Amino acid sequence: MEAYAYAPGKIIICGEHFVVYGATALAAAINRGTTAIAETSPTTTIYSKNLEMQADLSTNKIPEKLKPLAAAISSTKEYLNEKRGVKLTIQSNIPPRSGLGSSSSSAVATVAATALALGHKLSLDEVIELAMSAERLVHRSPSGVDVQVSARGGLLLFKKGAKPQTLTLSKNVSFVVACTGIERKTSDLIERVKVWREENPSLFNSLVESSTVMSHCCADALCLSDLKRAGAILNFFHATLSWLGISIKEIDRIVEAALSSSAYGAKLTGAGGGGSVIILCSEDKVDNVVKEISSISSEAFATPLPNSGVKTWIQKS
Ligand code: PMV
Repeated sequence: MEAYAYAPGKIIICGEHFVVYGATALAAAINRGTTAIAETSPTTTIYSKNLEMQADLSTNKIPEKLKPLAAAISSTKEYLNEKRGVKLTIQSNIPPRSGLGSSSSSAVATVAATALALGHKLSLDEVIELAMSAERLVHRSPSGVDVQVSARGGLLLFKKGAKPQTLTLSKNVSFVVACTGIERKTSDLIERVKVWREENPSLFNSLVESSTVMSHCCADALCLSDLKRAGAILNFFHATLSWLGISIKEIDRIVEAALSSSAYGAKLTGAGGGGSVIILCSEDKVDNVVKEISSISSEAFATPLPNSGVKTWIQKS
């Protein structure tokens, strides 16, 4: 018997970085994600199809890149008081280190599949808490937004330490996601923002407040399908994040190209320094924007919202 879990990646629509300092962010699950397949086994092993890497958790030789998943399995087994082994295979169609939540969706899918293979059904809150143990290994102090979105799905207003608010769209909205193909480490970018904050503490605190106000405005605009207003807010966020020093010329080039064609708004999403750009345009322009932006990005795709969160199922072999 094989236990499957699928968990989506995410885009942060507004409020990245400021969310680490208590702002409310707006984020959504995307149509790309990670599938984990788990079954009981004499030993606990991990095989990542994307990385073409494996690990046996009974040894000390766990590759660095698989350590977060090893932590997710170990925390889940410990929480369930399980001694049995689990063989876990994982595959994702989210580009890694691209600001699209590949590590959190892997952690969420791993926790859910591991528990199901061992005969347990965890609540969403339990999955989130256990997946956070893996995320803490990836980033030093994650806000938790990635894990919350991956587990719950949909469109969420998120504030660190509080239960997220799920929003309902009056009409489906599509975002275009354009990847720069430039990998970066979230913790390095968080450090850069920390230094900026130390140099400009009062201004930074004020921006944390502005970020909350604007995330709420953007949420209202998206829910009412006022894409022009939502787009204007995205542009303002991009300029602010860029000013904090976390954009790069490849990101700015995509933003400029999107806005000079027909988009209402475009900004970097996630930590910045590489990663991806999100673009908002009218529904009938989505295919064209994907086509135009493809030539200056490593990958561009449309993600209609909303998308569901973690799903689990059993397949009899
Ligand atoms: O690029 P990502 O997916 O690692 O996004 C991180 C978002 C931050 O706000 C920069 C950090 C956080 O923990 O919220």
